[in-house]
Amino acid sequence: MGNVVVVGTQWGDEGKGKVVDLLAARAELVVRFQGGNNAGHTLVVNGEQTICHLIPSGILHKGKKCLIGNGVVVDPEVLLEEIKKLRAKGVSVGPESFSLSEKAHLIMPYHRAVDLAREAAKGKDKIGTTGRGIGPCYEDKAGRTGIRAVDLLEPDTLKEKIAGNLEEKNFYLTKFLHAEALAFQPIYESYLSMAEILKPYISDVSLEIDEAIREGRRILFEGAQGTHLDIDHGTYPFVTSSNPVSGSACAGAGVGPDKLHHIIGIVKAYTTRVGAGPFPTELLDETGDYMQERGAEFGATTGRRRRCGWLDLVLVRDAARLNGLSSLSITKLDVLTGLKKLNICVAYALEGKRIEHRPASINKLALCSPIYEEMPGWRDDISSARERDELPREAQRYLKRIEEIVAVPLSIISVGPGRGETIILKDPFAPSQ
Ligand code: GDP
Ligand code: IMO
Ligand code: MG
Repeated sequence: MGNVVVVGTQWGDEGKGKVVDLLAARAELVVRFQGGNNAGHTLVVNGEQTICHLIPSGILHKGKKCLIGNGVVVDPEVLLEEIKKLRAKGVSVGPESFSLSEKAHLIMPYHRAVDLAREAAKGKDKIGTTGRGIGPCYEDKAGRTGIRAVDLLEPDTLKEKIAGNLEEKNFYLTKFLHAEALAFQPIYESYLSMAEILKPYISDVSLEIDEAIREGRRILFEGAQGTHLDIDHGTYPFVTSSNPVSGSACAGAGVGPDKLHHIIGIVKAYTTRVGAGPFPTELLDETGDYMQERGAEFGATTGRRRRCGWLDLVLVRDAARLNGLSSLSITKLDVLTGLKKLNICVAYALEGKRIEHRPASINKLALCSPIYEEMPGWRDDISSARERDELPREAQRYLKRIEEIVAVPLSIISVGPGRGETIILKDPFAPSQ
């Protein structure tokens, strides 16, 4: 029995939510292990859209357990709002279907305030964060001043920690960032009252996973963001503050690497990016607009228009290595329908040389120009295809070329946002030969 990890191979928004929702039918536990509510994972079931920011994307399936691991940063206000919205849709969320790790760090109002004020102060040099307080919360975690879910269960500790942090943050907010100071009492009171509601959900997630594994139950690990937003391996500093690569599932959920059996890399059939940073295959022309409009490329969290461009396989090839990908899931292939010619970026040209891997220097990346292979497009609607050979010949060639260049086989092809608009080539939970 295998456990599966789903990760993004580009700059996020590859369609991880759709694939996790689809695969959750075959798993008993679904676990988030990094990031926070900077994520926006869209699920479309029977034509109805649900966006998960914190709750794992398996929540629409009855009888599954969804867990938030210790590596996630959790804004309790957003979590409670998400639970409320799900309940309003008739989705049951109780301690039997959802747990929050006692070790998960909490996003506090001062994290959001610092994130927003810092971005405003940076002006044109801003990163384009989601403004959710993600970076400042991970900073406190690394600085050992963070507040964790377990602290919600000890009011005196909570009080002391909020007061201590607030003193420092208010100094930084007012004196350096020229922003407003925050008051202690309303923060303390609101976190105390949220603690009462969250208490039944707070647990040792690592132990829950361990018990499930011993009982032979299958686990699906849900990555957020994407490989090139990774704080170590991404386009630093235009990255997020966590490690979205698959190895992070171990530290962020509390499992050993021997428990991860199949790693699926989600690859959007073209490339998108929200926020700032170099993007070698970006299209600032009508083809980019075509992708943006047909793909409805607006951020699921911030509503920002996503930048669009040709498929960059330099990024995906690097992602195959960094994540140890077992298979690829190509999404949004239907969005390319109608384009006469398609380009695939197979390498970069930098200072007269061909390079196969993304350079670490952001200045060098900005100078890279894509080396393309041109392929013919297709015109027929593909959203009703359910077998690979039902796709137009040109679409099959496009997929084959991706498999060849990345040297990882495909397991899933997505031809529309709906759960059923999918071609499954291989069950990732099946034991590998
Ligand atoms: P995630 O963050 O990786 O989960 O991706 P998002 O949910 O932010 O963005 C992906 C968007 O594409 C969502 O609106 C999905 O409903 C949509 N989507 C996913 N797969 C497909 C597909 O194969 N075709 C089309 N047209 N849309 C898709
Ligand atoms: P999902 O899980 C796309 C981007 C932001 C910004 C950078 C840093 O839906 O794929 P942060 O708020 O994390 O400090 O912002 O990272 N970013 C994402 N882009 N999809 C996401 O998540 C993202 N989460 C963060 O736009 O450029
Ligand atoms: Mg998203």
